[in-house]
Amino acid sequence: MAKNEYKGTTNDAGIPVSSDEFSLSVGPDGPILLHDHYLMEQMAAFNREMIPDRQPHAKGSGAFGYFEATQDVSAYTKAALFQSGTKTDVLARFSTVAGEAGSPDTWRDVRGFALKFYTTEGNYDMVGNNTPVFFLRDPMKFHHFIHSQKRRADSGLRDADMQWDFWTLSPESAHQVTILMSDRGVPKSYRNMNGYTSHTYMWVNAKGEKFWVKYHFKTDQGIENLTQEEADRIAGSDADYHRRDLFNAIKDGNFPSWTLKVQIMPFEEAKSYRFNPFDLTKVWPHKDYPLHEVGKLTLNRNPTDFHSEIEQAAFEPNNLVPGIGASPDKMLLARLISYADAHRARLGVNYRQIPVNRPIAPVNSYNKGGTMRFDKVSDPVYAPNSKGGPTPDPKRYPEDAVWSASGDFLRAAYTLRKDDDDFSQPGALVREVMDDAQRDRLVNNVVGSLSGVSEPVLERVFQYWRSIDQTIGDRIAREVKGA
Ligand code: NDP
Ligand code: HEM
Repeated sequence: MAKNEYKGTTNDAGIPVSSDEFSLSVGPDGPILLHDHYLMEQMAAFNREMIPDRQPHAKGSGAFGYFEATQDVSAYTKAALFQSGTKTDVLARFSTVAGEAGSPDTWRDVRGFALKFYTTEGNYDMVGNNTPVFFLRDPMKFHHFIHSQKRRADSGLRDADMQWDFWTLSPESAHQVTILMSDRGVPKSYRNMNGYTSHTYMWVNAKGEKFWVKYHFKTDQGIENLTQEEADRIAGSDADYHRRDLFNAIKDGNFPSWTLKVQIMPFEEAKSYRFNPFDLTKVWPHKDYPLHEVGKLTLNRNPTDFHSEIEQAAFEPNNLVPGIGASPDKMLLARLISYADAHRARLGVNYRQIPVNRPIAPVNSYNKGGTMRFDKVSDPVYAPNSKGGPTPDPKRYPEDAVWSASGDFLRAAYTLRKDDDDFSQPGALVREVMDDAQRDRLVNNVVGSLSGVSEPVLERVFQYWRSIDQTIGDRIAREVKGA
């Protein structure tokens, strides 16, 4: 049959329609007819345009690009995407955490830094933040934490009292809160911030040797931030400031890039390191574990359909490819099951068949059925089988990203090591990394965030900051009390 090149309006079944302006009615002035299914199709599609937001990280922006491995790190990982000279297509999504889909980009918040690498051995997702640490070290507290940062049950308002109540009762949050209240709590743009895995991951080389790693995507545009005053002003004039910046930069050919560097800890060293290297509230000091360059991430293509390419993007920390594994970080282990569940709820069980989530690697799984399945399955649909179905090749792809563990089942904090405490690292950040002007802005940002915080939370806030740094805590108390 000859191809129909018709360019006029059709309905979703490809049937040409006669009007985009008028519904079908009984005479020009009569009632509309119920059998105007074209009108009905449009109203029904409109009513179903919105899908649920991501619970956290609802407001985000994304772009496509590539990662190029430039250095030889084969001694540490056999991951195909990190072999020198390899170029891998990437999707990136940057986000705020607590705000809703329409919230201002310049609200003070941690920023998500999520990457999907379409590698030859399956999709690899690096779902990190623009900070090297997190507020918590046990996943049991995650949903409580997010509740405390979002909206109250009664008024539907965000509430500083609730935020600081949670933080001050959770001293492990001190490092992340210090970064959040510092200049880096409001980046100037998504292009001007770093990205971190935050978690420790495992790398495995071709010989089966294992290493612990942390990733640092260092912005090639340089770190730049907004002051609280600038951020507040922009929030009122352009809620999409960061989305606009990213889109326009790429549209203008001003492609943002990040240099990936990693810290590498030999596998055995983790057992005796002076603090728990899997504790997500801590960094590994650079003098103990220097940065090794790996390659460069460049973003050079904007989405053309924001909904199908960015809203429907499903990042999942469980997407780990051969040569890369998890670590005993309890937060990471919980994330390995949380995200896929979120995607099943938000996008449906076959979310990996949505084009933006589809791997370039072959999919030879035994899953079948489910709503919105596009990929056809073929028999046999079970394993083991003697009918020629796929079988694993453990010689080529062994289960090697593993560690050993033993102990009774219990609910407990990590075993404390010599240098495990909540306040030394944020204290070092305040005293050794920040200069006087940064410390002044830190104090101002904290004081500004305390409006509406009541006793006894307020007194706990002063103690929290005194534990991080006595002088900073005293200054905050003085400024709040107006003394
Ligand atoms: P270094 O002096 O080697 O590193 C200091 C780091 O702090 C740099 O990576 C710098 O990032 C980063 N930094 C500067 N200002 C801020 C800020 N406001 N918020 C977050 N990070 C900032 O010292 P150490 O490695 O011994 O670490 C000292 C402290 O620095 C840590 O306790 C931690 O708070 C912070 N830090 C450490 C990181 C690490 O992986 N070791 C990573 C990020 C922060 P950049 O080089 O990009 O400017
Ligand atoms: C988004 C859970 C900790 C980074 C999400 C989503 C969930 C979730 C359910 C929404 C996913 C979606 O609907 O698409 C959790 C849990 C955590 C945790 C249970 C801890 C136990 C973290 C940490 C980081 C992080 C530590 C960073 C290091 C992100 C990012 C997104 C996200 C970047 C947005 C991804 C995107 O752009 O689509 N998280 N999270 N989360 N989370 Fe977490």
